[in-house]
Formats: sequence, structure tokens, C-alpha cells
Amino acid sequence: MKFSDRVSQLKPSLTLAITAKVKAMRKKGIDVIGFGAGEPDFDTPDNIKEAAIRAIKSGLTKYTPSAGTPELREAVCEKLKKDNSLVYKPEEVVISCGAKHTLYNIFQALCNKNDEVIIISPYWVSYPEMVALSGAKPRIVRSREEDGFVVDPGLIEKNITGRTKAIIVNSPSNPTGAVYGKDVLKKIAEIAISRNIFVISDEIYEKFTYGEERHVSLGAILPEAKSHTISVNGVSKAYSMTGWRIGYAAGDAQIIKLISALQSHSTSNPSSISQAAALEALRGNQAAVLKMKKEFEVRRDYMVKRVNSSGKLSCVEPKGAFYIFCNISKTKLDSTAFAGQLLEKAHVACVPGAAFGSDRHVRLSFATGMDNIKTGHDRIDKWLRTL
Ligand SMILES: Cc1ncc(COP(=O)(O)O)c(C=O)c1O
Repeated sequence: MKFSDRVSQLKPSLTLAITAKVKAMRKKGIDVIGFGAGEPDFDTPDNIKEAAIRAIKSGLTKYTPSAGTPELREAVCEKLKKDNSLVYKPEEVVISCGAKHTLYNIFQALCNKNDEVIIISPYWVSYPEMVALSGAKPRIVRSREEDGFVVDPGLIEKNITGRTKAIIVNSPSNPTGAVYGKDVLKKIAEIAISRNIFVISDEIYEKFTYGEERHVSLGAILPEAKSHTISVNGVSKAYSMTGWRIGYAAGDAQIIKLISALQSHSTSNPSSISQAAALEALRGNQAAVLKMKKEFEVRRDYMVKRVNSSGKLSCVEPKGAFYIFCNISKTKLDSTAFAGQLLEKAHVACVPGAAFGSDRHVRLSFATGMDNIKTGHDRIDKWLRTL
């Protein structure tokens, strides 16, 4: 049987594969320290869980409009105005089953065969696959470690062709933790405006920036930027709600309409219960977000010190998100061999940088408790001495 060429070419998500492998090892009784996680280790805040329970009990258990409930679309508009200085109407917002689904839908709605989408490397593992699934071609533009993994906008400009449809910007970045400053965002916005292409601004880690760093939304950087930006966000990371599957996009009403039509024939709507929970997340008390951010910052500071004092590893300090993109060049191992040996011999899980477009790095997540982080680094140091 010959199956779909499009889907057969997909590489399954390596990050999810690592999570599954760790779970299987733990089931066998092996004590694995997980630095592979792409989700906060905190529980979903109680006020959000209670809102979901109320939704179930009050019968909010039916289909909703495909683009999401009017209340949640309105709450997203309020949030975007308050946090991001972005003014949208509810008909310019669509709710989907996680930001991953939001992004998938955007490429489906935006791209035709052989269009090009600029992806900045190191990139989130799913971008190239999602772009390819839409029929478009990913065009990779490298950011350099020496520049803190902030891309040179001039390189983006050089890679724009007559077929370019969009640029994906992910700040704060998974996997590098880079946070783009106003100057760089402004230059990228100017390029998009002058070349009449879209910027897809994935802001899922916006709540986790450290030190003096502040998140700025690309769509609000210039008055004309908004009409060239599709802002993507969700509740997974900020509210530790990865399993609830709620993400959203805000942008031009026409593309939002196309995405709703696509959803109406695919998922119908995101879970009604999760939408009620997301409404509470956006409108309710925000104290839990700040608590997570503070804890992440303590862990980041510790982990950066441990990596940079290990002798064989190094990293630039991540300014946001919850990952360390760790340079492994001195070990002379490629990233898959490094991650494989670390897991087998030291029982520490990480994600090979190859998944993100760099074989000289691995991604270590600090979405795990401080005790685990300390033990994990002790194990890493011991294993490194055997190389
Ligand atoms: C950069 C980035 N964008 C989007 C997502 C998708 O998040 P979700 O689908 O859980 O909302 C993730 C999740 O890991 C991510 O790291």
C-alpha cells in the first residue's frame, strides 16, 4: 500500500519521543532525571481547574462555534490590549487546540505549493514540518551563538525571494531562550511591511523573561506592523495547561475566517471545557504566573553556572523561556550520540540539538525541581569525566 507522500515524509516529533522514552524507563524502575520536558512542571492553578469543573457541572459540554466561544475571543482581545498593546476585535481572533494547532492552521491557510517561509535556526522542532505539510518550503536563516542567538535582520532580508510568504519569529525562543529587543523586532517588521509578507509571531513563552528583559510584541512595534503580523499565543506554558490544548491567533480578519473554516471541517472546535478554563486563566488572578517565573529564574541562574563550570559544556544565558541551549562541541560527540549516551549511562534525558537545527547543541529544560537539577548536573559532570 502506498500512503500519503506528504505525511510519510514527516519526522515524528523528537521532543515527544524523548518524553515517551523517559516514561518507559521510569516504568521499568530506572530513576531518570528529565531535562527533556517542554512543559512547566507546576500544576495547573486551582482557580483554573475549578472553572473547568464548573463548566462541566453547568452543562458547557457541547459544541462551541468553530472559532471559539465569544467570551474567550473577547478575553483574548482584552489580554492582547492589556499585555501586548495590540487592539483586535473578536472576529480577528481564532481559538484552536493549542498553539501548535494554531500554527499548523496558519500555514494551511496562508501557503500554496512552493511558497517559502523563513524559519530562524535554531528553531522549534515543529516549524519546518508544519511548513512542509502546507506544501511550502522552509528556508532556514541561521542565528549565531556569538549574537546570543538573536538573528541578524539583514540575513532575513537577503533570503526573501518572490515566493516568500512569511517569516516566523519566536521570542522568547524555544530552544535558545533568546529574547528579541525592540530594534531587531522593528527591523523585521520593516522588512515584512516593505516586502508585503507576513510575520508569524509565536509568543507562547512571553510570560517567562528574566532579569531586565521584557517581552515586546512584534505586531505593536510600529503602527503598520499589525496588518502584517499574525500573533500566536496560548495558555499552555504561561498557566501550565499543556494538556488542556488551547492556543489562539490574532490577525487579519480574512485569514482568521479561513482558519475557522478549516477548523469547522477538522476539529469542529477546541474543547468547550478547556475554553472555559482558558477564560479563567486569562481573566482570573495572575499570581501563579509570577510565582512560576520567579522559580524558573532561580533554576536558570543555577543551571547556567553548572553548565559553564562543567569544563566540557558551555551556554549563553537564556533571557526567556525555560531551556538552556548547551554547546557540546568540546565533547566531540554529535547531539544524538550525546543525548543517547547521557540517557543510557547517566540516566539524564535531554533533547538533541539536531531536532532544532544544530548538531553542536543539546537542549536542557529547567522545567523540573531544583533537587532534580542538582542531581542531574552531578550525574552529567561524572559522565563527562569518563569521556
Ligand atoms: C515555540 C513553541 N511554539 C508553540 C508551542 C505549542 O504549544 P501548545 O500547542 O502546547 O500551545 C510550543 C510547545 O512546545 C513551543 O515551544
